[in-house]
Amino acid sequence: MKTILVTGGAGFIGSNFIHLMIQKYVDYKIINVDTLTYAGNLENLKNIEKHENYNFIKANICDKVKIDDIFSKYSIDYVVNFAAESHVDRSIVNPEIFLITNIIGTQVLLDVAKNHWKKEPHNKYNIEYRNDVKFLHVSTDEVYGALGKTGKFVETMPLMPNSPYSASKASADLIVRAYHETFGMPINITRCSNNYGPYQFPEKLIPLMINNCLNNKSLPIYGDGLQVRDWLHVSDHCEAIDCVLHNGDNGEIYNIGGNNEKTNIEIIKLIINTVGKSEKLITYIKDRPGHDRRYAIDNSKITTQLGWKPKFSFEVGIMDTIQWYLNNNHWITNIVNGDYREYYEKIYK
Ligand SMILES: NC(=O)c1ccc[n+]([C@@H]2O[C@H](COP(=O)([O-])OP(=O)(O)OC[C@H]3O[C@@H](n4cnc5c(N)ncnc54)[C@H](O)[C@@H]3O)[C@@H](O)[C@H]2O)c1
Repeated sequence: MKTILVTGGAGFIGSNFIHLMIQKYVDYKIINVDTLTYAGNLENLKNIEKHENYNFIKANICDKVKIDDIFSKYSIDYVVNFAAESHVDRSIVNPEIFLITNIIGTQVLLDVAKNHWKKEPHNKYNIEYRNDVKFLHVSTDEVYGALGKTGKFVETMPLMPNSPYSASKASADLIVRAYHETFGMPINITRCSNNYGPYQFPEKLIPLMINNCLNNKSLPIYGDGLQVRDWLHVSDHCEAIDCVLHNGDNGEIYNIGGNNEKTNIEIIKLIINTVGKSEKLITYIKDRPGHDRRYAIDNSKITTQLGWKPKFSFEVGIMDTIQWYLNNNHWITNIVNGDYREYYEKIYK
């Protein structure tokens, strides 16, 4: 029996992760802590909201008193920290909230976990922890910056983030590392490439393009559209996190990626053709400042040391994903109309 505090569990990856854990570990309890920003949508978890092993608590990870109460009440064994401001474009318009949530929020969680997990009596600088606890911080390949035409990110590379979003994620990675080095906190950091799959907020490339196609709206592409991203199905990412949570060596960082390098324009054309629309919908717009040209993940550490490998081929995963959005068009429409927000705001004032 384990109790996992999942932060940001109402978002895209967090909700997929909760579905996986509830299904896979029948004796685990999941506490989902999410402040329900514009990106948090409890509709993603509708079918398990009454599950006996699942609890939702509306809370901000920066609220130390509330996080401390949750640790006291539920005796948390693992923290999996997804909660974040996650959209690069928004970080260019308003960086401050990215620094507050992504950096301070992570530090608050670390501090509370440290106080609850340490063994008593303890020495200030030589803390011993319960041996069955772990803080897993979910990070991104964007912390490494941009690659040229060749090469891949490996875990030992220096961090060279280029956007306020990636800089805030890199800062969080460093504070997690510092809690391990200074206080001996049991941690892992995972750095994953671009995810695709169900329940992704429709500001991100794939759901945005599908929704615009369905509504015959233009498909905006930054610059020449030749930016390369390494795409991974969200369920493969969730399985990798599960694998690191249970088998990752203490203090280690693991890159997660699927060896699926695609340009943005390739993805958009694939969506257009699958949905049956015209490429005339494509509109090239001025490139985003600090736009990284290419990301690619070397996943050999997690595949060789922990035995994880992706199950989805890109061809199957992307078709399933497009189909999911077509079958669940009401999910996007309700987000765009604000219907879910209104409903859940009334419940969780
Ligand atoms: N989406 C990707 O392709 C990708 C790739 C690699 C890593 N990541 C990382 O994975 C994590 C999840 O990404 P996502 O795409 O699911 O993001 P998302 O934006 O869909 O979800 C983020 C969730 O965090 C919640 N949240 C935001 N601020 C909070 C706060 N202060 N307190 C509590 N909850 C808060 C939101 O309400 C939302 O439910 C992020 O840390 C992101 O950096 C994402």
